Amino acid sequence: MARMLDYRDGGAGRSTYRGVGIVLAAWLAGMVVPASGADERGKSKAPPTFTKHVAPILQQKCQNCHRRHQIGPFGLETYEQARKRATDIATVVADRMMPPWKPERGVGPKLKHDQSLSREEIAILVDWAEAGAPQGDPKDLPPPPRFKEGWKLGPPDLVLEPSEDFTIAAGAPDTYRCFVLPTNLAQDAYVSALDFQPGNPRVVHHMNAFVDTTGDGRKRDEAEPGPGYTCFGGPGIASFEELSFWATGHEASHLPEGIGQRLRRQSDVILQVHYHSTGKPERDRPRVGVYFSRAPVKQALHWYPVSNSKFVVKAGEPKAEIRASWFIPTDVEALAVSPHMHSLGRDMRILVTYPNGRSQDLINIPVWDPSWQSSYHFQKPVPLPQGSVIKVVAHFDNSAHARNPNQPPKNVKWGQTADDEMCEGFIAVVKKGQDLTVVRATDDLPDIFAEQRLRKVIKEINRKNR
Ligand code: HEC
Repeated sequence: MARMLDYRDGGAGRSTYRGVGIVLAAWLAGMVVPASGADERGKSKAPPTFTKHVAPILQQKCQNCHRRHQIGPFGLETYEQARKRATDIATVVADRMMPPWKPERGVGPKLKHDQSLSREEIAILVDWAEAGAPQGDPKDLPPPPRFKEGWKLGPPDLVLEPSEDFTIAAGAPDTYRCFVLPTNLAQDAYVSALDFQPGNPRVVHHMNAFVDTTGDGRKRDEAEPGPGYTCFGGPGIASFEELSFWATGHEASHLPEGIGQRLRRQSDVILQVHYHSTGKPERDRPRVGVYFSRAPVKQALHWYPVSNSKFVVKAGEPKAEIRASWFIPTDVEALAVSPHMHSLGRDMRILVTYPNGRSQDLINIPVWDPSWQSSYHFQKPVPLPQGSVIKVVAHFDNSAHARNPNQPPKNVKWGQTADDEMCEGFIAVVKKGQDLTVVRATDDLPDIFAEQRLRKVIKEINRKNR
């Protein structure tokens, strides 16, 4: 980061480049750019160079995927590799397609491990491409970064993995596989963090973990040959709890001290992996690292699905709006959100309207990409008083585009398979003021949610009978 400030604040190009940054920022925001701004960019004297300005950005924001044996389809480690693709790089960063961090910058509470590029960083990459990708003085080149291999949070307390490798056939379409991983826990435990390690980073896009206490996952596993079973929008069983969501490149973090998510004794973790074919046969054995809470847990975390399961997206409809909402039944604090749709999703915004009528965004995903879904943790818990309403506003494109699983398009409803859709904003909450360390204290949040659901069902039945 120090080097980037150096670029902005020092050297001959100083004022010119700050100006270009602003012009580009205005252009990115869709504002009219005066002709003089464009001229200024064309005439700028000291364009950014690879060694001084571009390499530090590629090291920090791109190489965790764009290096050997990682999921990026090519390396961006050497000058030659970057020079060849300078124009592509400028295009994908200006569109915010890369790095694949989907939340809109500056919207909602600050997120942990935000990987998006700053406007200055985008300006550098765009200007560099426009200047013909100059190399610069080799002496400026920073030393190559050392990527921490293995578990970033240290050795996990428990590592779960399938007992054999899973094979992804050459040329297979995108594959979703659920692996059933018994925890063999003798008693209930609280989890403070979960981390994920693909066995083969070339093929793994994202992973979701669910808890199964019913044994239904095992039955599905036994019914299919090979490790695990086919699944898509969720674990494909009737009753489960969300545990964690992870996309390649995202960093795991511990929950705040005193907060944990309960993992029940003898439960199974169902690990859903989204594989992306490389064109060659590949094998993978993913691993989940479980970190138990060290400090006594006062508050239990629950993922609540703010979801709409009663919609139809009409065939051919390019921008259908689907909404979901949740009236918060007791004072809670939100720690994370995870938007979820399938292949027809265009965008999703999650916001809260407080009892006083004021609204605030929690997250906005302006360009949905089902391959890059994850959960996003807030830097600080967000208080949500009783009576606040969480709103999910999503748009779906059911026209005949390449990603539409139905060709020709057909009416699509809620469902867990690849040709169905989902509209869910998962939100991780704890009950405000809960203290489970007090003798005989119990976690009543699931009961509060269950009662709320029951009341809603009864209301619907009464309405139908009227
Ligand atoms: C989390 C992993 C990850 C990170 C970080 C990442 N990329 Fe990528 N990149 C990919 C993958 C995977 C693809 C292949 C397309 C896809 O799956 O979306 C890709 C594709 C690309 C492409 C080709 C796009 C196309 O349509 O042909 C470019 C150019 C690119 N990345 C540049 C960058 C740059 C520049 C950065 C850093 C600013 C970056 N990427 C950061 C994973 C990553």
